[in-house]
Amino acid sequence: MNKRKSANVVWHQGQVTRAMRERLNGHKGALLWFTGLSGAGKSTLAHAVEAKLHAMGCHTYVIDGDNVRHGLCGDLGFSDADREENIRRIGEVAHLFVEAGMLTLTAFISPFRRDRACVRAINGADFIEVFCDTPLEVCEARDVKGLYKKARAGEIPDFTGISSPYEAPESPELRVDTGSMSLDACVVQVIDYLAERGIVRR
Ligand SMILES: Nc1ncnc2c1ncn2[C@@H]1O[C@H](COP(=O)(O)OP(=O)(O)OP(=O)(O)O)[C@@H](O)[C@H]1O
Ligand SMILES: [Mg+2]
Repeated sequence: MNKRKSANVVWHQGQVTRAMRERLNGHKGALLWFTGLSGAGKSTLAHAVEAKLHAMGCHTYVIDGDNVRHGLCGDLGFSDADREENIRRIGEVAHLFVEAGMLTLTAFISPFRRDRACVRAINGADFIEVFCDTPLEVCEARDVKGLYKKARAGEIPDFTGISSPYEAPESPELRVDTGSMSLDACVVQVIDYLAERGIVRR
């Protein structure tokens, strides 16, 4: 089944284009897709980058982890097929946000290359994969949510990094050393990248 389009529907092109929205905003739309282990720093970094972009006058939105499991993906569980569909829907929603001219940031573990490739295929050149590269030992020592302890005790099945694989990006647009660099330095790295690509102006 083609999940990108229903039968007998035709795209309606509005008068206001993405380029017009971007001109009004003074920056481009893009999707910053933060990926990494639980506790790697995806949410912390995505929200810190958003705060910086907002202060620069940019239009931003963060789509973060568990929040989409209320509502949009509330009908999905944690089977392989449901996890795949979860990421696909987020990729499609992010695409709409980017078309709306927003700097869109997402914070999902998204451990499987195939799922991230699906989001990349939906979003094309707008997709910026940001690998939050914190080693498992550091994430586990942080154990922000107490989940590693539970996973080690066998209380959480298929926990990424412990009992389920994390497939690290092979050629991410950005690799951020969220394990040993300061949060501020990581924010600067991301903003510099956006400026170099001409997505935002400093
Ligand atoms: N450079 C850094 N960037 C981001 N977070 C950092 C950094 N250095 C230390 N940290 C700390 O690491 C922790 C990361 O937790 P965070 O909730 O952001 O992880 P996450 O990747 O969103 O995990 P989850 O997938 O479980 O939601 C926070 O306590 C944060 O303060
Ligand atoms: Mg998070």
